[in-house]
Amino acid sequence: MHSFHYHKGQLRCEGVDLSALAAEHGTPLYVYSAQTIQDHFRRLDAALAGLDHLICYAVKANSTLAVLDLLGRERAGFDIVSAGELYRVLHAGGRPECCTFAGVGKTREEIEYALRKEVLSFNVESEAELEMINAVAGESGRRAPVALRINPDVAAGGHKYISTGKSENKFGIGIDRALEVYAAASKMPHLRLRGVQMHIGSQITEAGPFARAVAKVAPVAAELKREYGIEFFSVGGGLGIVYKSSLESGQEAWWQHGDNTPSPSLTVEEYAAAIVPALKPLGLRILLEPGRFLVGNAGVLLSTVQYLKTTASGKKFVIVDAGMNDLIRPALYEGYHEIVPVREPSPTDRREAADVVGPVCESGDFFAQARELPPLRQGELIALMSAGAYGFAMASNYNSRPLAAEVMVSGKTAHVVRERQTLRDLIRGEHRVEEAAVAH
Ligand code: LLP
Repeated sequence: MHSFHYHKGQLRCEGVDLSALAAEHGTPLYVYSAQTIQDHFRRLDAALAGLDHLICYAVKANSTLAVLDLLGRERAGFDIVSAGELYRVLHAGGRPECCTFAGVGKTREEIEYALRKEVLSFNVESEAELEMINAVAGESGRRAPVALRINPDVAAGGHKYISTGKSENKFGIGIDRALEVYAAASKMPHLRLRGVQMHIGSQITEAGPFARAVAKVAPVAAELKREYGIEFFSVGGGLGIVYKSSLESGQEAWWQHGDNTPSPSLTVEEYAAAIVPALKPLGLRILLEPGRFLVGNAGVLLSTVQYLKTTASGKKFVIVDAGMNDLIRPALYEGYHEIVPVREPSPTDRREAADVVGPVCESGDFFAQARELPPLRQGELIALMSAGAYGFAMASNYNSRPLAAEVMVSGKTAHVVRERQTLRDLIRGEHRVEEAAVAH
Protein backbone atom coordinates (compact mmCIF):
# COMPACT_ATOMS: atom_id res chain seq x y z
CA MET A 1 0.00 0.00 0.00
CA HIS A 2 1.19 3.32 -1.10
CA SER A 3 -0.07 6.45 0.64
CA PHE A 4 2.72 9.03 0.86
CA HIS A 5 4.89 9.36 -2.20
CA TYR A 6 6.38 11.93 -4.53
CA HIS A 7 4.40 12.61 -7.65
CA LYS A 8 5.72 15.10 -10.19
CA GLY A 9 8.15 16.47 -7.64
CA GLN A 10 5.56 16.94 -4.87
CA LEU A 11 4.87 14.81 -1.82
CA ARG A 12 1.33 13.46 -1.90
CA CYS A 13 -0.99 11.72 0.48
CA GLU A 14 -2.98 9.27 -1.64
CA GLY A 15 -4.12 11.49 -4.53
CA VAL A 16 -3.73 14.87 -2.84
CA ASP A 17 -0.71 17.21 -2.95
CA LEU A 18 0.41 18.08 0.55
CA SER A 19 1.50 21.55 -0.57
CA ALA A 20 -2.10 22.27 -1.66
CA LEU A 21 -3.38 21.21 1.76
CA ALA A 22 -0.83 23.42 3.52
CA ALA A 23 -1.76 26.36 1.29
CA GLU A 24 -5.43 25.91 2.07
CA HIS A 25 -5.32 25.03 5.76
CA GLY A 26 -2.00 26.43 6.98
CA THR A 27 0.64 24.71 9.07
CA PRO A 28 1.30 22.98 11.41
CA LEU A 29 -1.15 20.51 9.89
CA TYR A 30 -1.72 16.83 10.56
CA VAL A 31 -2.67 14.86 7.46
CA TYR A 32 -3.93 11.28 7.61
CA SER A 33 -4.45 8.69 4.92
CA ALA A 34 -7.75 6.84 5.34
CA GLN A 35 -6.56 4.08 3.00
CA THR A 36 -3.51 3.37 5.11
CA ILE A 37 -5.56 3.02 8.29
CA GLN A 38 -8.05 0.73 6.57
CA ASP A 39 -5.31 -1.27 4.91
CA HIS A 40 -3.44 -1.82 8.17
CA PHE A 41 -6.61 -2.84 9.96
CA ARG A 42 -7.57 -5.27 7.21
CA ARG A 43 -4.11 -6.78 7.01
CA LEU A 44 -3.96 -7.45 10.72
CA ASP A 45 -7.51 -8.79 10.65
CA ALA A 46 -6.65 -11.10 7.75
CA ALA A 47 -3.47 -12.36 9.44
CA LEU A 48 -5.61 -13.46 12.40
CA ALA A 49 -8.37 -15.01 10.32
CA GLY A 50 -7.76 -18.41 11.90
CA LEU A 51 -8.70 -17.11 15.36
CA ASP A 52 -11.96 -15.93 16.86
CA HIS A 53 -10.72 -12.40 17.43
CA LEU A 54 -11.62 -8.75 17.94
CA ILE A 55 -9.21 -5.90 17.20
CA CYS A 56 -9.75 -3.25 19.87
CA TYR A 57 -8.01 -0.15 18.57
CA ALA A 58 -6.02 1.60 21.35
CA VAL A 59 -7.73 4.97 21.25
CA LYS A 60 -4.88 6.72 23.06
CA ALA A 61 -2.76 6.53 19.90
CA ASN A 62 -5.09 8.87 18.03
CA SER A 63 -8.51 9.71 19.41
CA THR A 64 -9.66 12.04 16.64
CA LEU A 65 -13.33 11.32 15.91
CA ALA A 66 -12.74 10.75 12.20
CA VAL A 67 -10.16 8.06 13.00
CA LEU A 68 -12.50 6.36 15.47
CA ASP A 69 -15.33 6.57 12.96
CA LEU A 70 -13.21 5.01 10.23
CA LEU A 71 -12.14 2.13 12.44
CA GLY A 72 -15.64 1.66 13.83
CA ARG A 73 -16.85 1.18 10.28
CA GLU A 74 -14.22 -1.56 9.90
CA ARG A 75 -15.99 -3.20 12.87
CA ALA A 76 -13.10 -2.53 15.25
CA GLY A 77 -13.61 -2.60 18.98
CA PHE A 78 -11.85 -0.02 21.14
CA ASP A 79 -9.38 -0.11 23.99
CA ILE A 80 -10.07 2.94 26.13
CA VAL A 81 -8.34 4.38 29.18
CA SER A 82 -10.64 7.15 30.36
CA ALA A 83 -14.24 8.31 30.41
CA GLY A 84 -13.19 10.88 27.83
CA GLU A 85 -12.05 8.19 25.41
CA LEU A 86 -15.29 6.25 25.93
CA TYR A 87 -17.26 9.43 25.27
CA ARG A 88 -15.34 9.98 22.05
CA VAL A 89 -15.86 6.38 20.89
CA LEU A 90 -19.59 6.59 21.54
CA HIS A 91 -19.75 9.96 19.83
CA ALA A 92 -18.05 8.45 16.78
CA GLY A 93 -20.64 5.65 16.64
CA GLY A 94 -18.46 2.95 18.26
CA ARG A 95 -20.11 0.05 20.04
CA PRO A 96 -19.74 0.13 23.86
CA GLU A 97 -20.03 -3.65 24.05
CA CYS A 98 -16.77 -3.81 22.08
CA CYS A 99 -14.85 -1.49 24.44
CA THR A 100 -12.33 -2.64 26.99
CA PHE A 101 -11.54 -0.13 29.71
CA ALA A 102 -7.89 -0.23 30.80
CA GLY A 103 -5.68 1.93 33.02
CA VAL A 104 -4.32 1.81 36.56
CA GLY A 105 -6.27 4.72 38.01
CA LYS A 106 -9.94 4.52 36.99
CA THR A 107 -12.03 6.84 39.15
CA ARG A 108 -15.40 6.03 40.68
CA GLU A 109 -17.08 8.37 38.19
CA GLU A 110 -15.36 6.69 35.26
CA ILE A 111 -16.36 3.25 36.51
CA GLU A 112 -20.00 4.37 36.91
CA TYR A 113 -20.06 5.83 33.42
CA ALA A 114 -18.55 2.73 31.79
CA LEU A 115 -20.94 0.46 33.71
CA ARG A 116 -23.91 2.51 32.52
CA LYS A 117 -22.67 2.25 28.95
CA GLU A 118 -22.17 -1.52 29.37
CA VAL A 119 -18.61 -1.90 28.16
CA LEU A 120 -17.24 -5.33 27.29
CA SER A 121 -14.81 -5.39 30.18
CA PHE A 122 -12.79 -3.49 32.74
CA ASN A 123 -9.15 -4.49 32.50
CA VAL A 124 -8.19 -4.38 36.16
CA GLU A 125 -4.69 -3.59 37.31
CA SER A 126 -4.77 -4.04 41.10
CA GLU A 127 -6.69 -5.63 43.94
CA ALA A 128 -7.72 -2.23 45.26
CA GLU A 129 -9.27 -1.47 41.88
CA LEU A 130 -11.16 -4.79 41.90
CA GLU A 131 -12.69 -3.82 45.22
CA MET A 132 -13.64 -0.38 43.95
CA ILE A 133 -15.30 -1.79 40.82
CA ASN A 134 -17.14 -4.38 42.91
CA ALA A 135 -18.40 -1.64 45.24
CA VAL A 136 -19.48 0.72 42.47
CA ALA A 137 -21.22 -2.10 40.59
CA GLY A 138 -23.04 -3.13 43.78
CA GLU A 139 -24.28 0.42 44.37
CA SER A 140 -25.63 0.65 40.84
CA GLY A 141 -27.22 -2.81 40.93
CA ARG A 142 -25.02 -4.20 38.18
CA ARG A 143 -22.38 -6.87 37.72
CA ALA A 144 -19.18 -5.48 36.32
CA PRO A 145 -17.43 -7.54 33.64
CA VAL A 146 -13.72 -7.74 34.50
CA ALA A 147 -10.45 -9.12 33.20
CA LEU A 148 -7.25 -8.97 35.21
CA ARG A 149 -4.17 -7.59 33.56
CA ILE A 150 -1.38 -10.06 34.11
CA ASN A 151 2.15 -8.77 34.01
CA PRO A 152 4.15 -11.56 32.35
CA ASP A 153 7.54 -10.11 33.30
CA VAL A 154 8.86 -10.04 29.74
CA ALA A 155 11.17 -7.25 28.61
CA ALA A 156 10.00 -5.54 25.42
CA GLY A 157 9.50 -2.23 23.74
CA GLY A 158 11.54 0.71 22.66
CA HIS A 159 12.13 3.50 25.13
CA LYS A 160 12.08 2.82 28.88
CA TYR A 161 8.97 5.01 29.23
CA ILE A 162 6.95 2.68 27.00
CA SER A 163 8.03 -0.71 28.33
CA THR A 164 5.30 -2.09 30.56
CA GLY A 165 5.65 -5.87 30.81
CA LYS A 166 8.43 -6.06 33.41
CA SER A 167 7.53 -6.75 37.01
CA GLU A 168 8.97 -3.43 38.16
CA ASN A 169 6.37 -1.50 36.13
CA LYS A 170 3.21 -0.12 37.70
CA PHE A 171 1.07 -2.18 35.34
CA GLY A 172 -0.89 -5.34 36.00
CA ILE A 173 -0.72 -8.10 38.58
CA GLY A 174 2.32 -10.38 38.80
CA ILE A 175 1.81 -13.66 36.95
CA ASP A 176 2.72 -15.66 40.05
CA ARG A 177 -0.19 -14.09 41.96
CA ALA A 178 -2.74 -14.21 39.15
CA LEU A 179 -4.67 -17.32 40.25
CA GLU A 180 -4.86 -16.13 43.83
CA VAL A 181 -6.26 -12.73 42.78
CA TYR A 182 -8.80 -14.37 40.44
CA ALA A 183 -9.89 -16.57 43.34
CA ALA A 184 -10.44 -13.46 45.46
CA ALA A 185 -12.25 -11.70 42.60
CA SER A 186 -14.54 -14.71 42.09
CA LYS A 187 -15.86 -14.19 45.61
CA MET A 188 -16.81 -10.58 44.96
CA PRO A 189 -20.56 -10.65 44.31
CA HIS A 190 -20.80 -7.78 41.83
CA LEU A 191 -18.09 -8.89 39.43
CA ARG A 192 -18.23 -11.21 36.48
CA LEU A 193 -14.87 -12.71 35.45
CA ARG A 194 -14.84 -12.39 31.70
CA GLY A 195 -11.26 -12.53 30.60
CA VAL A 196 -7.57 -12.10 31.07
CA GLN A 197 -5.35 -9.42 29.60
CA MET A 198 -1.69 -8.62 29.10
CA HIS A 199 0.33 -5.89 27.37
CA ILE A 200 4.10 -5.92 27.36
CA GLY A 201 5.08 -2.62 25.79
CA SER A 202 4.99 -0.48 22.70
CA GLN A 203 6.99 -0.17 19.48
CA ILE A 204 8.07 -3.83 19.60
CA THR A 205 9.73 -4.82 16.34
CA GLU A 206 10.49 -8.47 16.91
CA ALA A 207 8.26 -11.48 17.42
CA GLY A 208 10.17 -13.03 20.33
CA PRO A 209 8.75 -10.98 23.22
CA PHE A 210 5.16 -11.49 22.00
CA ALA A 211 5.70 -15.24 21.68
CA ARG A 212 7.35 -15.45 25.13
CA ALA A 213 4.63 -13.45 26.86
CA VAL A 214 1.80 -15.42 25.21
CA ALA A 215 3.54 -18.69 26.11
CA LYS A 216 3.70 -17.58 29.75
CA VAL A 217 0.11 -16.37 30.05
CA ALA A 218 -1.64 -19.02 27.89
CA PRO A 219 -1.52 -21.78 30.57
CA VAL A 220 -2.96 -19.34 33.10
CA ALA A 221 -5.70 -18.40 30.64
CA ALA A 222 -6.51 -22.11 30.12
CA GLU A 223 -6.79 -22.62 33.85
CA LEU A 224 -8.99 -19.55 34.26
CA LYS A 225 -11.28 -20.82 31.52
CA ARG A 226 -11.65 -24.17 33.28
CA GLU A 227 -12.08 -22.63 36.70
CA TYR A 228 -14.22 -19.54 36.00
CA GLY A 229 -15.39 -19.88 32.42
CA ILE A 230 -13.59 -16.78 31.17
CA GLU A 231 -14.35 -15.95 27.55
CA PHE A 232 -11.46 -13.87 26.24
CA PHE A 233 -7.71 -13.37 26.34
CA SER A 234 -6.50 -9.93 25.32
CA VAL A 235 -2.89 -9.99 24.17
CA GLY A 236 -2.54 -6.19 24.25
CA GLY A 237 -0.94 -4.00 21.63
CA GLY A 238 2.64 -3.03 20.95
CA LEU A 239 3.24 -3.99 17.32
CA GLY A 240 5.95 -1.64 16.11
CA ILE A 241 6.20 0.36 12.91
CA VAL A 242 8.97 1.79 10.74
CA TYR A 243 10.15 5.19 11.86
CA LYS A 244 13.69 5.11 10.64
CA SER A 245 14.14 4.41 6.99
CA SER A 246 17.41 4.19 5.15
CA LEU A 247 17.19 7.73 3.78
CA GLU A 248 20.49 8.67 5.39
CA SER A 249 22.28 5.90 3.64
CA GLY A 250 20.92 7.12 0.34
CA GLN A 251 18.43 4.29 -0.13
CA GLU A 252 14.71 4.74 -0.54
CA ALA A 253 12.54 5.43 2.47
CA TRP A 254 9.72 3.06 3.43
CA TRP A 255 7.11 5.48 2.18
CA GLN A 256 8.70 5.55 -1.25
CA HIS A 257 8.46 1.81 -1.72
CA GLY A 258 4.83 1.44 -2.54
CA ASP A 259 4.69 -1.09 0.27
CA ASN A 260 3.85 -0.17 3.82
CA THR A 261 5.97 -2.75 5.56
CA PRO A 262 4.78 -2.67 9.16
CA SER A 263 8.29 -2.86 10.58
CA PRO A 264 11.71 -3.75 9.26
CA SER A 265 11.85 -6.98 11.18
CA LEU A 266 8.24 -7.89 11.92
CA THR A 267 5.31 -8.24 9.56
CA VAL A 268 1.74 -8.89 10.63
CA GLU A 269 2.10 -12.42 9.31
CA GLU A 270 5.18 -13.01 11.47
CA TYR A 271 3.41 -11.49 14.43
CA ALA A 272 0.43 -13.79 13.89
CA ALA A 273 2.70 -16.80 13.41
CA ALA A 274 4.38 -16.03 16.75
CA ILE A 275 1.18 -15.95 18.77
CA VAL A 276 -1.57 -17.90 16.99
CA PRO A 277 -0.25 -21.45 17.63
CA ALA A 278 -0.29 -20.91 21.40
CA LEU A 279 -3.64 -19.07 21.33
CA LYS A 280 -5.74 -21.25 19.07
CA PRO A 281 -5.97 -24.33 21.31
CA LEU A 282 -7.30 -22.18 24.16
CA GLY A 283 -10.67 -21.86 22.47
CA LEU A 284 -10.98 -18.33 23.84
CA ARG A 285 -11.90 -15.19 21.97
CA ILE A 286 -8.66 -13.30 21.33
CA LEU A 287 -8.62 -9.52 21.72
CA LEU A 288 -5.82 -7.32 20.40
CA GLU A 289 -5.15 -3.70 21.32
CA PRO A 290 -2.99 -2.21 18.58
CA GLY A 291 -2.69 1.55 18.43
CA ARG A 292 0.48 2.64 16.69
CA PHE A 293 0.39 -0.12 14.07
CA LEU A 294 -3.00 1.00 12.76
CA VAL A 295 -2.41 4.75 12.60
CA GLY A 296 1.30 5.53 13.01
CA ASN A 297 2.41 5.41 9.40
CA ALA A 298 -0.93 6.81 8.26
CA GLY A 299 -0.17 10.37 9.40
CA VAL A 300 2.30 13.17 8.80
CA LEU A 301 2.77 16.53 10.43
CA LEU A 302 3.31 19.29 7.90
CA SER A 303 5.32 22.28 9.00
CA THR A 304 6.84 25.36 7.39
CA VAL A 305 10.47 26.41 7.73
CA GLN A 306 10.40 29.79 9.48
CA TYR A 307 14.04 30.64 9.78
CA LEU A 308 17.49 29.23 9.17
CA LYS A 309 20.20 29.99 11.66
CA THR A 310 23.87 29.15 11.94
CA THR A 311 25.60 29.65 15.28
CA ALA A 312 29.11 31.00 15.74
CA SER A 313 30.35 27.44 16.12
CA GLY A 314 28.90 26.60 12.73
CA LYS A 315 25.94 24.58 14.01
CA LYS A 316 22.90 24.83 11.78
CA PHE A 317 19.32 25.14 12.95
CA VAL A 318 16.18 24.82 10.88
CA ILE A 319 13.45 26.56 12.87
CA VAL A 320 9.98 25.36 11.91
CA ASP A 321 6.45 26.38 12.88
CA ALA A 322 5.55 23.10 14.59
CA GLY A 323 6.78 22.55 18.12
CA MET A 324 7.02 19.99 20.86
CA ASN A 325 3.48 20.93 21.82
CA ASP A 326 2.33 19.54 18.44
CA LEU A 327 4.51 16.41 18.41
CA ILE A 328 6.28 15.58 21.64
CA ARG A 329 7.77 12.19 20.77
CA PRO A 330 11.29 13.42 19.90
CA ALA A 331 11.48 15.52 23.08
CA LEU A 332 9.98 12.90 25.37
CA TYR A 333 11.32 9.60 24.04
CA GLU A 334 14.02 10.73 21.64
CA GLY A 335 11.55 9.38 19.10
CA TYR A 336 12.76 9.41 15.54
CA HIS A 337 10.61 10.88 12.78
CA GLU A 338 11.76 10.99 9.22
CA ILE A 339 11.85 14.59 7.95
CA VAL A 340 11.42 15.20 4.25
CA PRO A 341 10.86 18.27 2.12
CA VAL A 342 7.43 18.34 0.49
CA ARG A 343 9.09 19.48 -2.74
CA GLU A 344 11.12 16.49 -3.88
CA PRO A 345 14.83 17.07 -3.39
CA SER A 346 17.17 16.29 -6.23
CA PRO A 347 19.37 13.22 -5.68
CA THR A 348 22.37 15.42 -6.36
CA ASP A 349 21.52 17.89 -3.56
CA ARG A 350 24.27 17.88 -0.98
CA ARG A 351 22.95 16.90 2.43
CA GLU A 352 23.96 18.88 5.48
CA ALA A 353 23.62 18.15 9.17
CA ALA A 354 21.16 20.41 10.98
CA ASP A 355 18.94 20.45 14.05
CA VAL A 356 15.27 20.84 13.22
CA VAL A 357 13.68 22.73 16.09
CA GLY A 358 10.38 24.31 17.01
CA PRO A 359 9.51 27.74 18.42
CA VAL A 360 8.82 26.59 22.00
CA CYS A 361 11.06 28.13 24.64
CA GLU A 362 12.83 24.93 25.66
CA SER A 363 16.02 23.31 24.41
CA GLY A 364 14.09 20.05 24.34
CA ASP A 365 11.91 21.43 21.56
CA PHE A 366 13.54 19.59 18.70
CA PHE A 367 12.41 17.15 16.02
CA ALA A 368 15.86 16.06 14.92
CA GLN A 369 19.44 16.66 15.97
CA ALA A 370 22.39 16.63 13.61
CA ARG A 371 20.17 15.17 10.89
CA GLU A 372 21.56 14.99 7.37
CA LEU A 373 18.99 16.87 5.32
CA PRO A 374 18.74 18.14 1.79
CA PRO A 375 19.00 21.94 1.61
CA LEU A 376 15.90 23.62 3.07
CA ARG A 377 14.85 27.21 2.41
CA GLN A 378 12.90 29.68 4.46
CA GLY A 379 9.20 29.24 3.72
CA GLU A 380 9.65 25.66 2.52
CA LEU A 381 7.31 22.90 3.63
CA ILE A 382 8.52 19.79 5.41
CA ALA A 383 6.73 16.64 6.46
CA LEU A 384 7.44 14.85 9.72
CA MET A 385 6.64 11.29 8.76
CA SER A 386 4.92 8.55 10.77
CA ALA A 387 3.23 11.03 13.07
CA GLY A 388 -0.22 9.43 13.05
CA ALA A 389 0.17 7.73 16.43
CA TYR A 390 0.84 9.61 19.68
CA GLY A 391 1.16 12.81 17.66
CA PHE A 392 -1.93 14.96 17.87
CA ALA A 393 -3.19 12.80 20.75
CA MET A 394 -0.32 14.07 22.92
CA ALA A 395 -0.47 17.67 21.73
CA SER A 396 -0.89 20.49 24.22
CA ASN A 397 -1.39 24.23 24.33
CA TYR A 398 2.03 24.81 25.90
CA ASN A 399 3.34 28.31 25.17
CA SER A 400 -0.32 29.16 24.39
CA ARG A 401 -0.02 27.65 20.96
CA PRO A 402 -3.36 26.72 19.38
CA LEU A 403 -3.75 23.03 18.52
CA ALA A 404 -3.09 22.20 14.87
CA ALA A 405 -5.79 21.33 12.37
CA GLU A 406 -6.21 17.77 11.10
CA VAL A 407 -7.13 16.62 7.61
CA MET A 408 -8.16 13.13 6.50
CA VAL A 409 -7.44 12.26 2.89
CA SER A 410 -9.37 9.61 1.06
CA GLY A 411 -8.40 9.13 -2.57
CA LYS A 412 -8.49 12.52 -4.23
CA THR A 413 -10.52 14.25 -1.52
CA ALA A 414 -9.44 15.85 1.72
CA HIS A 415 -11.69 16.53 4.69
CA VAL A 416 -10.91 18.87 7.56
CA VAL A 417 -11.63 16.58 10.49
CA ARG A 418 -10.54 19.04 13.15
CA GLU A 419 -10.41 22.78 12.79
CA ARG A 420 -7.35 24.67 13.88
CA GLN A 421 -7.86 26.21 17.32
CA THR A 422 -8.28 29.95 17.39
CA LEU A 423 -6.80 32.36 19.90
CA ARG A 424 -10.28 32.65 21.37
CA ASP A 425 -10.34 28.86 21.90
CA LEU A 426 -7.21 29.24 24.01
CA ILE A 427 -9.04 31.18 26.73
CA ARG A 428 -12.40 29.35 26.57
CA GLY A 429 -13.66 28.60 30.06
CA GLU A 430 -11.19 30.87 31.79
CA HIS A 431 -12.24 33.72 34.06
CA ARG A 432 -10.39 36.69 35.39
CA VAL A 433 -10.96 37.46 39.04
CA GLU A 434 -12.99 40.65 39.21
CA GLU A 435 -11.08 43.67 40.45
CA ALA A 436 -13.29 44.07 43.52
CA ALA A 437 -12.60 40.50 44.62
CA VAL A 438 -8.83 40.90 44.60
CA ALA A 439 -7.45 41.81 48.02
CA HIS A 440 -5.25 44.87 48.02
N1 LLP B 1 -2.82 -1.60 25.38
C1 LLP B 1 -2.32 -1.05 26.48
C2 LLP B 1 -2.72 -1.57 27.79
C3 LLP B 1 -1.40 0.01 26.39
O1 LLP B 1 -0.90 0.55 27.49
C4 LLP B 1 -1.04 0.50 25.11
C5 LLP B 1 -0.11 1.63 24.96
C6 LLP B 1 -1.61 -0.10 23.98
C7 LLP B 1 -2.49 -1.17 24.14
C8 LLP B 1 -1.29 0.34 22.58
O2 LLP B 1 0.05 0.17 22.30
P1 LLP B 1 0.59 0.33 20.79
O3 LLP B 1 -0.04 -0.76 19.96
O4 LLP B 1 0.18 1.67 20.32
O5 LLP B 1 2.05 0.18 20.91
N2 LLP B 1 3.29 7.61 23.72
C9 LLP B 1 4.22 6.53 23.46
C10 LLP B 1 3.55 5.18 23.47
C11 LLP B 1 2.81 4.90 24.75
C12 LLP B 1 2.10 3.59 24.73
C13 LLP B 1 1.23 3.43 25.92
N3 LLP B 1 0.43 2.25 25.93
C14 LLP B 1 4.93 6.80 22.12
O6 LLP B 1 4.67 7.84 21.52
O7 LLP B 1 5.77 6.02 21.70
